[in-house]
Amino acid sequence: MSKNISNLSGRVGLKKNLFEKISERSLNSKDSTGIKEIANEYHMGVSTIHGAESFYEFLRPSHRAKKAFVCNGSACMCSGTQEPLKKKLKEKLGDDKVGEMFCLGHCYENKAFHYDGENYAGNDIDKIDEIIKGEKIEQEKFFSKSFASTSFLMDDKLSNLDQFKDVLNKFINTDKQEIIKSLLDSNLTGRGGAGFPAGMKWDFCRKAPSEKKYVICNADEGDSGAFSDRYLLEDQPLKVLFGMIICGYVIGSDEGVLYIRGEYPKSIEAINGAINSLKKEGLLGENILGTSFSFDLNICIGQGAYICGEETALIASIEGRRAEVDVRPPFPVTEGLYKKPTVVNNVETLAAATGILINGADKFSAIGNKKSAGTKLVCFDSFFNNPGVYEVEMGTPMKKVLNDIGGGFKEPIKALQIGGPLGGVIPISEIEKLNLDFQEFTAAGFMLGHASIVSIPKDFPMVEYIHHLFEFTAEESCGKCFPGRLGSYRGKEMFDQAKNKTAKIPLKLLNELLVTMKKGCLCALCGAIPTPIMNILKYFGDEMKDDMVKDN
Ligand SMILES: Cc1cc2nc3c(=O)[nH]c(=O)nc-3n(C[C@H](O)[C@H](O)[C@H](O)COP(=O)(O)O)c2cc1C
Ligand code: SF4
Repeated sequence: MSKNISNLSGRVGLKKNLFEKISERSLNSKDSTGIKEIANEYHMGVSTIHGAESFYEFLRPSHRAKKAFVCNGSACMCSGTQEPLKKKLKEKLGDDKVGEMFCLGHCYENKAFHYDGENYAGNDIDKIDEIIKGEKIEQEKFFSKSFASTSFLMDDKLSNLDQFKDVLNKFINTDKQEIIKSLLDSNLTGRGGAGFPAGMKWDFCRKAPSEKKYVICNADEGDSGAFSDRYLLEDQPLKVLFGMIICGYVIGSDEGVLYIRGEYPKSIEAINGAINSLKKEGLLGENILGTSFSFDLNICIGQGAYICGEETALIASIEGRRAEVDVRPPFPVTEGLYKKPTVVNNVETLAAATGILINGADKFSAIGNKKSAGTKLVCFDSFFNNPGVYEVEMGTPMKKVLNDIGGGFKEPIKALQIGGPLGGVIPISEIEKLNLDFQEFTAAGFMLGHASIVSIPKDFPMVEYIHHLFEFTAEESCGKCFPGRLGSYRGKEMFDQAKNKTAKIPLKLLNELLVTMKKGCLCALCGAIPTPIMNILKYFGDEMKDDMVKDN
């Protein structure tokens, strides 16, 4: 069934993609007007279109009836700024006009909210009257700096179209095998979480036989605490787009798409502007720079579903299916978008590939070690003295990362959640034993992931933190597998009761639930959430002993 939808959707393709059609209809209509027409145009049933539409938070009537949305990501929650913010917005707009959105990527300043298509944070709420009047207000930007001996991600070697043209001209006239070799030699692994070697992924896709192939940039950065992809999309768009174009050249693709989350309006604007400039200069489109290579880029805007960061759900979303996770294999490199061979890479992976081609693979591989090589963007939230996004060499001691680069903390912090809601929760005493290294984090029972850091203050109750994690999973689970769909809700219910002091948590049952989810879930959304929860139980069990009951 889903194969049929992929193929039918693929007949129209990216230019008039079904997901965009469904989103547009839904956002511009108060009822079901137009669904039938879309179904007819794409030769699908009305129920298929309705099923897809109803999957997305932003397309639901209840969401569209609201005007402002307060960020409920982990960093904003820990900062304690969101309840007063919500109250102020409700006073201005009405009780029923204020909703929530998960992580707007303003973790470095908090008080984040979304209003009328724009994000605001920090002191912006003081100018709420101007914002409501539609006036443009001056906003603070994140601080960014590279601490690497060679910068691959933050330098200005690809910041204008002349530079872009020179570098593109060089590489679309370079042997494809040589480009793959550079990526393999660099030891670049995917920055989106799974850590698959980027050169190998491109090579597999290059070898997959097909007339049509796609390049997808995964810009659905939903991890709370992370705004590094946002930095690259907004401040280094040419690096990201160059990575996609060169990937297209190498694998034999003529079309790519950036799936950018709807919570990042400025990123969408920046990438749109960069694509248009490249098209105007003939650096995208037919026969680029007089060669036989043609490549075009599209943007797909996410509609508020965290699971769309998972690559098979992301592909389903672009195709206009419900964004449910698919079983792999087949992997996207052989059967991806519209069932054609597809490279799906994270924003930072693509920008790093560009940095490697410009600066040399040897410089990248010389940093860190073979499995955790090169540089990585690390994000610090507002509890740090130096909040912002930084380029750091892999292998750097975490003590140095937190204290020298991050400047230490403004107030006592008991633990850090690194790598988003699915990443480990690490007590301060343990983090200082680690280096910035994917394998070291995993071996110690944590996860480096995208290297976003959320600080958990000393007085923040861990029962509430676990409740937040289960609530997030219950809300965002795609519903495809039973352990994920049911487990996340059962966990949330247990912690609802503990939070409200109506019942204690049965520890044995909780452990069984976590083990079942870890072993039985189809993907890492509900399958990895036991990691941070088990970390908290291990290191902060004492703090929660009054909320637990040992059920033999
Ligand atoms: C629940 C879930 C959410 C994910 N979210 C993202 C995301 O926001 N961005 C991303 O690049 N990868 C995300 N991934 C990983 C992707 O599935 C995929 O591995 C990645 O985009 C591949 O790119 P890379 O090889 O460059 O890392 C997620 C995976 C899971 C299981
Ligand atoms: S683990 Fe959760 S998000 Fe992943 S497939 Fe199962 S229900 Fe969906």
